[in-house]
Amino acid sequence: MLPDERRFDHKKMHALIGPEREARWNPIRFLSKLGIQPGQSVLDLGSGPGFWSLPLAEIIGPKGIVWALDVSQEMLDLLAQRNPPTQVHLLRAELPKIELPNSSLDWIWAAFVMHEVTPPEELASEMRRLLKENGTVAILDWRPDAVNEAGPPRHHRMSVDQITKYMHDSGFESVKQTWQDDDTYLLEAQ
Ligand SMILES: C[S@@+](CC[C@H](N)C(=O)[O-])C[C@H]1O[C@@H](n2cnc3c(N)ncnc32)[C@H](O)[C@@H]1O
Repeated sequence: MLPDERRFDHKKMHALIGPEREARWNPIRFLSKLGIQPGQSVLDLGSGPGFWSLPLAEIIGPKGIVWALDVSQEMLDLLAQRNPPTQVHLLRAELPKIELPNSSLDWIWAAFVMHEVTPPEELASEMRRLLKENGTVAILDWRPDAVNEAGPPRHHRMSVDQITKYMHDSGFESVKQTWQDDDTYLLEAQ
């Protein structure tokens, strides 16, 4: 596999599940606003060590399924050590290709990963292929015009307008920014 300078360095993976991040995001509360239902199927794209995968598993419950997809075996190994419940399935894959069936997912959750993947338009098409007709993609990512300095280099980040165009071009009819703070934004596409 070719190294990719945009990719999050797995040596820093413990920071992704630290108490500061937990306090900043309160992932259960944040995800609860999306309307994900028990029994649904969710793909956690670029799951890392499962900061969002474990709360997603709690929301969808034992009858649902969470695919935790990441290219990094180290990330997935750390997730496995965190004792995920049986509804969490680990999937090692290099985006934009995703080996899951057409129209098989209710939700795709993409937190801080879209700006790391090239080409993003291929990822958008894969997401459209995988989602059920009434499924939703939720993308949480860094603003290029963020107020604070934390996060990836600004020239790696994608604006809401850029992602919106990729999503529309891939067949998503509705793409809305539903939340933002000083540094990040949430987009929902259907
Ligand atoms: C910044 S981390 C975010 C992890 C997680 N979503 C979170 O918010 O805690 C980005 C993750 O995406 C993964 N990733 C980056 N490029 C990828 C690719 N092309 N295919 C699969 N995973 C990728 C990285 O290995 C890393 O775990």
